[in-house]
Amino acid sequence: MSKREKCPADSLIVMREMVMPNHTNPQNTIFGGVVMSWIDIAAAMCAAKHAEKPVVTVHVDDIDFKAPIKVGCHVIISASLNYVGRTSMIVGVKVESENPYTGKRRQTTKAYLTFVALDEDGVPVEVPSLSPQTDEEKRRFENAKKRVEAKKALMKSLE
Ligand SMILES: CC(C)(COP(=O)(O)OP(=O)(O)OC[C@H]1O[C@@H](n2cnc3c(N)ncnc32)[C@H](O)[C@@H]1OP(=O)(O)O)[C@@H](O)C(=O)NCCC(=O)NCCS
Repeated sequence: MSKREKCPADSLIVMREMVMPNHTNPQNTIFGGVVMSWIDIAAAMCAAKHAEKPVVTVHVDDIDFKAPIKVGCHVIISASLNYVGRTSMIVGVKVESENPYTGKRRQTTKAYLTFVALDEDGVPVEVPSLSPQTDEEKRRFENAKKRVEAKKALMKSLE
């Protein structure tokens, strides 16, 4: 039987939160750990939707905080599947702040996370393959593939 194929649109997640005082640091802007937790949740939902199995985070890389987010702002976390291996999946996450009164948006964070799908015994299990459709999805797929290959080369050079 041929392996199932799914598109990035099948597992796209868009999550919205509001920055409350308990989410902030002493500068009264959002605490990075809170953003990382939201990123992990959105990305895990995306990977589980693609795999149709429970998933665990195995790697987080390239997390960049580009701008702070103030109390009261809305936070939009978009997670989409960029690449899949046999049992692993790479999810790209974009975080934007939105002023709820003007609608003005700004990208504040981006990150790439790797998840592995597990069977009932907690053993890595094969996931459907990914078929990128749009030019943007194809670009993300190729870039993720390059990052996987570059990481393998780096790890080998450090042995
Ligand atoms: C998920 C887990 C069972 C996988 O075990 P493992 O021995 O690494 O399994 P494998 O070597 O067969 O790797 C499985 C896949 O994960 C990938 N992988 C494992 N560790 C990785 C890492 N650090 N970065 C990127 N990919 C990784 C492998 O390349 C492989 O991908 P492929 O099947 O697509 O080729 C194990 O790593 C684990 O339990 N980790 C803890 C997860 C967890 O608890 N996360 C919560 C946050 S603390």
